[in-house]
Amino acid sequence: MVKVLFVCLGNICRSPAAEATFRHLCQQQGTNQRFAWDSAGTAAYHIGKAADSRMREAAQARGIAMDDLRARQVKVTDFYEYDLIIAMDKSNLANLKAIQPVDSKADLVLMLDNADNAPAEVPDPYYGGMDGFYQVLDMLDTACRRLHDQHC
Ligand code: 4NP
Repeated sequence: MVKVLFVCLGNICRSPAAEATFRHLCQQQGTNQRFAWDSAGTAAYHIGKAADSRMREAAQARGIAMDDLRARQVKVTDFYEYDLIIAMDKSNLANLKAIQPVDSKADLVLMLDNADNAPAEVPDPYYGGMDGFYQVLDMLDTACRRLHDQHC
């Protein structure tokens, strides 16, 4: 089993959408047993909250369920629990590297490392319009398919 943690800043837009996209794909492909997944934020602002309503609306329009997800912050035990910790942008990655215990074996990578011809970062849609949320979902779909196929 491969255990994957998706990480952004607030855990209300990008990383819960990544988690939901990956979960949806595994359910479609019948590969639930091969993976475990979760998401978290580097910041504490939104702990316990549902995902941003705009992201939930965009995901629902694509047939992806995420209303059950609640925000949490990254914790030290995550670095021992997960094989792969996937950051949405370079700032998230730098924040994770700064707190990774030296003896943790988790691989820290960028979400879009896997995607051809894509920007290196999943842009933060929080302060923009609905277009940005759909664009993020497109990027996550491509990256999640790559991630899934690499481990199946
Ligand atoms: P996320 O987006 O990191 O993709 O969940 C954000 C959510 C909230 C804030 C920033 C980014 N905020 O500043 O509250």
